[in-house]
Amino acid sequence: MTQDNSSTGNEHVTLVDHATGNSYDLPVIGGTMGPKVIDVRKLYGQTGYFTYDPGYTSTGSCDSAITFIDGDKGVLLHRGYSIEELAENSDFLEVAYLLLHGDLPNKADKEKFNTTITYHTMVHEQMMNFFRGFRRDAHPMAIMVGVVGALSAFYHDSTDINDPHQRMVASHRLIAKMPTLAAMAYKYSVGQPFVYPQNKLSYAENFLHMTFSVPAEDYQISPAVARAMDRIFILHADHEQNASTSTVRIAGSSGANPFACIAAGISSLWGPAHGGANEAVLNMLNQIGDKKNIPEFIARAKDKNDPFRLMGFGHRVYKNFDPRAGVLKKSCHEVLAELGVDDPLLELAMELEQIALQDDYFVERKLFPNVDFYSGIILKAIGFPTSMFTVLFALARTVGWVAQWNEMITDPNQKIGRPRQLYKGETPRSFMSVNER
Ligand code: ACO
Repeated sequence: MTQDNSSTGNEHVTLVDHATGNSYDLPVIGGTMGPKVIDVRKLYGQTGYFTYDPGYTSTGSCDSAITFIDGDKGVLLHRGYSIEELAENSDFLEVAYLLLHGDLPNKADKEKFNTTITYHTMVHEQMMNFFRGFRRDAHPMAIMVGVVGALSAFYHDSTDINDPHQRMVASHRLIAKMPTLAAMAYKYSVGQPFVYPQNKLSYAENFLHMTFSVPAEDYQISPAVARAMDRIFILHADHEQNASTSTVRIAGSSGANPFACIAAGISSLWGPAHGGANEAVLNMLNQIGDKKNIPEFIARAKDKNDPFRLMGFGHRVYKNFDPRAGVLKKSCHEVLAELGVDDPLLELAMELEQIALQDDYFVERKLFPNVDFYSGIILKAIGFPTSMFTVLFALARTVGWVAQWNEMITDPNQKIGRPRQLYKGETPRSFMSVNER
């Protein structure tokens, strides 16, 4: 394959098929930052070949102007703003506006957006009955997959994807109702009454109130905890074309309604290789139990015959460090100090991180702590059970999913997502009756 940056300005690469002697020019397209892409859309028509890329490690699936990641440098930008700056100076709803609309809101737009989201936080009263169909011991993510999908049965007036107004109403509803549904999933699992949202509270405060308050007494929201919660939401808001976001896009590419698409994203996020990792990190730390056992677990993580992996370590894109992990590590120490929590798991986590970062296996493979490594410890300190960790991730990521879904629907190049395959099955054969087999 040769690359031509020639005078024509039409950059392309030339693919030479040595079997036939044919050569094909494939256009090269550049974005505003990041690697250029080879446009293979016409490849099959021109050559009869598909590309082969299980796990999409070298495939750009869409144009996007929302989030940029440079995995080698540990950079994460939303609409051009660094995650560190947003986590330090912004708040979650402002970041949500930024992701959805492309720019930070001015004062009036910010107030209007906050009010709109606040006034969409209640869910249809019938949804209570829906919750009651679940077993009390159901995993809250199982409940979320069901109830978020069920929103499409409750809000028919915002399921027409061709109407920009309905799309925006659905987006607002999803962002607003996720904390309410997440808190209800929690309340249901502990057998406490559902708590209605309160419009005087901020997004993070409202979520804490709906999750932790009980009718029998006043609930004081700690400003430090509310700030930490808001920061965790910001850090999880979007992350480019990850598994769950690609799932939302591919579900939406068929024209499915946004509530169903976000439910698909929640399903994808649930897996331990993705959003389920924060729950898995805590389970792993509990399993390790004591610093003296760390070498044994490091050895297991390196053993190819052992399925055990160091949860919260490694990332498909970040090969230097995950900038979100840096922010959370700092936040973790602050929150624990503020709450007066002395959690031996934090010490264990730091020791594990140190040992792994000096181990050749992890160094060579560029395996660093990811966002999930520290988030679980903060969430535990705030009082969430591990089963809620991935739900909180889903709550925050809904903003990214919704922004990416809107971007996809309005993209003139949008087509139904339909990959092809390398078939390795049987060649044609004749059917035999059951007695002949
Ligand atoms: N522990 C031990 N070894 C690991 C780990 C780990 N956590 N992660 C990767 N490796 C090893 C692999 O065994 C492989 O080794 P090899 O080259 O000798 O075969 C090499 O590192 C590359 O790993 P891949 O699985 O090919 O990398 P991939 O990009 O496909 O996977 C993933 C990335 C899924 C995140 C992986 O690192 C992992 O499973 N990590 C643990 C789960 C986790 O923390 N997930 C959260 C991701 S972040 C998020 O979703 C918010």
